[in-house]
Amino acid sequence: MPVSKRINTLIAVLSLTFGLTAMSAQASDSVSAETKIRDVESRQHAFSQIAKQQKQIDRALGKSSPDWQQLEILSADLLANSASLQYLFVPGSQSGSKAKSKVWDNNIKFKGALAKMDNSFVSMDTAIQQQDKGMAKNALKQANSTCRNCHRQYRSR
Ligand code: HEC
Repeated sequence: MPVSKRINTLIAVLSLTFGLTAMSAQASDSVSAETKIRDVESRQHAFSQIAKQQKQIDRALGKSSPDWQQLEILSADLLANSASLQYLFVPGSQSGSKAKSKVWDNNIKFKGALAKMDNSFVSMDTAIQQQDKGMAKNALKQANSTCRNCHRQYRSR
């Protein structure tokens, strides 16, 4: 092969390799961008479900003879949503969300506030399993007191 042809081949191979590398880098970038959008949607969905389920539980607990079976199902669903939040504030997933950067800048405190809410829901769940109306109502009230506090600090309007 003449030298000029060999150089041409080399250039072709190099540019193909470079092109493929750039393409795969772009592909993995868009995959992680999609994952981050999914994290934002998942956590907003989890919070919306919690807000809804907590109202249903409050209403069910207000009845003179609560439907404990229904309450157990609602509470288990709510607990799953609450627990999932622990994993959904992934670093780098702020864009397009209402979460303030403080969520990650002050992550230990944020996680503590999240755990406080979750612990109250766990207490509520225990009380529901024991069919203890008073204790369930108290724990729900406690869980409710964490919402505003955290939003004020970590959620933008
Ligand atoms: C530890 C902090 C924290 C606690 C506690 C908390 N939230 Fe939030 N909440 C957030 C943040 C941050 C967002 C913004 C999420 C985003 O946009 O990525 C949010 C968003 C929401 C949303 C909006 C979802 C949407 O589609 O925009 C609802 C509804 C909500 N929270 C309800 C609640 C309720 C009800 C409680 C209490 C039972 C609660 N939150 C407790 C931090 C918290």
